Amino acid sequence: MAVIKRIGVLTAGGDAPGMNAAIRAVVRYAIYSKIEVVGILRGWGGLINDEIKQLDHRSVSGIINQGGTVLKTARCAEFKTDEGQKRAFENIKKHAIDALVVIGGDGSFRAAHEFGIKYQIPCIGIPASIDNDINGIDTTIGSDTAINTALSAIDNIRDTATSMERIFVVEVMGKSSGYIALQVALAGGCEEVLIPERDFNLEDICHDIVNGNLRGKISWIIIIAEGVGKADDIARKINEMTGLETRPVVLGHIQRGGRPTAFSRRLALTLGQAAVDYLLKGESDKAVSLNCGDITTVDLGSAIQRKKIDVDNFYRLIRILT
Ligand code: F6P
Repeated sequence: MAVIKRIGVLTAGGDAPGMNAAIRAVVRYAIYSKIEVVGILRGWGGLINDEIKQLDHRSVSGIINQGGTVLKTARCAEFKTDEGQKRAFENIKKHAIDALVVIGGDGSFRAAHEFGIKYQIPCIGIPASIDNDINGIDTTIGSDTAINTALSAIDNIRDTATSMERIFVVEVMGKSSGYIALQVALAGGCEEVLIPERDFNLEDICHDIVNGNLRGKISWIIIIAEGVGKADDIARKINEMTGLETRPVVLGHIQRGGRPTAFSRRLALTLGQAAVDYLLKGESDKAVSLNCGDITTVDLGSAIQRKKIDVDNFYRLIRILT
């Protein structure tokens, strides 16, 4: 088993609230475990471009409650090339980095999986993404915060939708996953939700709206996951088919920012410690996770497969309770 004296930590892909808490836990728990830590800036690009700095206990002071990531983050096309990976490995040797902790989503895990195997660098992933789309992992850091942020906006929209008797089509993030959409539709008491994992027929939905309207149900909130299309287009079509005033709202990047919830912070702190512990136990090519309350690991190769969510039961409950 390789001796680990110095680890590198980076955040990659879209930021997620709670990444800072995870960085704090990795740095402080590693120092407690007598390991040095360097921070790699701007994700994989920082490893290629040698943007690497020593971190100490105080480097991570005052960040536990901040959204975003103090290490900065980016999506890095260059790291997909052999040349980019070669330069990254040269910097790993230059800084005597024995292992990597990669905080990010499925794209970051794919990169860690390929790079770790190719260059024999132990890599442990900490799942952080608002999308909660990592296979085998109950909940990612930041997902709870993003859902609560979106829900708060939807509660506000509900006030005006009810008062002005309008239909709203609200687009939420989630890449190709409908997870955020399902969660906020259920928790927000929304009338309809459109997600990529489930076929829908806009004509049937418009039929329901018109029938509801005849019975006196005037306001509707329809949540759409970004993976099914644009709020503008769907609102326009509903307006054309029903003749009822329909407004689009795109929540967008608001969902990615803000103070992490207690749940996102606790998850981040727990997984930060777990990542260091697993590296010290000689584990590699794994993501840490809190599944059903237990800290566990998932192979990175499996974590990057498509995650299935329990769409039917969720959708059924939303419809019954509407
Ligand atoms: O993966 C997180 C996420 O916010 C997705 O929900 C969204 O599709 C994507 O990132 C947006 O990325 P960018 O900020 O690079 O446009």
